[in-house]
Amino acid sequence: MKDAQEILNWYILAGVDTLCSDATLNYVHSEDVATKGAATPKQTEAAQGSARPATTILAQTKSAAYINAREICAQAHTLDDLKAMLENFEGCALKFSANSTVFGYGNPQAEIMIIGEAPGADEDRIGEPFVGRSGHLLDKMLSAIGIQRQDCYITNILPWRPPGNRTPTDGEVAVCLPFLQRQIELIKPKIILLLGASAANAVLNLSSSVSQLRGQFIDYQSENNLSIPTLISYHPAYLLRTPTQKAKTWVDFLRLRKKLATL
Ligand code: URA
Repeated sequence: MKDAQEILNWYILAGVDTLCSDATLNYVHSEDVATKGAATPKQTEAAQGSARPATTILAQTKSAAYINAREICAQAHTLDDLKAMLENFEGCALKFSANSTVFGYGNPQAEIMIIGEAPGADEDRIGEPFVGRSGHLLDKMLSAIGIQRQDCYITNILPWRPPGNRTPTDGEVAVCLPFLQRQIELIKPKIILLLGASAANAVLNLSSSVSQLRGQFIDYQSENNLSIPTLISYHPAYLLRTPTQKAKTWVDFLRLRKKLATL
């Protein structure tokens, strides 16, 4: 009994805290996963951003939930309206396995908007973005360039935690995207920092890896004709696993600070 508890504790520490299927699956034999239709476990390189299909316009236009989300978001004139609308929105199934709807947090007049992928276990529990280990690293990286967390507006492409922190599907990203796009329009930041491949590809509708995109400024064009420079960098969760990439991130953050001074 004690052994079983220890194994469970080990899984929880590793981030596996959600039951995705009643059956035990052998991920070594891919037919098992394919036939029983389990969720794919998060790829270790996902946060770093090996190329994956972009959240295509096609994926968005096909979905009635996406069209509904866009119509709802167009009616939000304040962040409070948008937050309330998101909390009532039922077009994404992730909402039903999550504990919290994690809306953006921070200074609504922020010059810098920071966008990550999705809440993790700590964010899901507390209801705020980037408050776990990745968030602490992000705070440290920001303060190294003289920026405090409370000066920024921080959010994610998804407001709900995917079970077991798996990589969000394109459909999930597409349906939540209008809420993120409206946050950008309401905040009107001077610059956007995109952390990781999921955020970069979803916001810019690309299909590239972070190693291809990082350090570059690419303009984000909103539907209401805002043009906002975005800088892409590594996700802090990836840096926690791969600290050797911190030096490149430091270069990206210095570039961010330099650019901000010119805006
Ligand atoms: N990772 C993210 O992408 N977002 C969070 O809020 C926390 C961890």
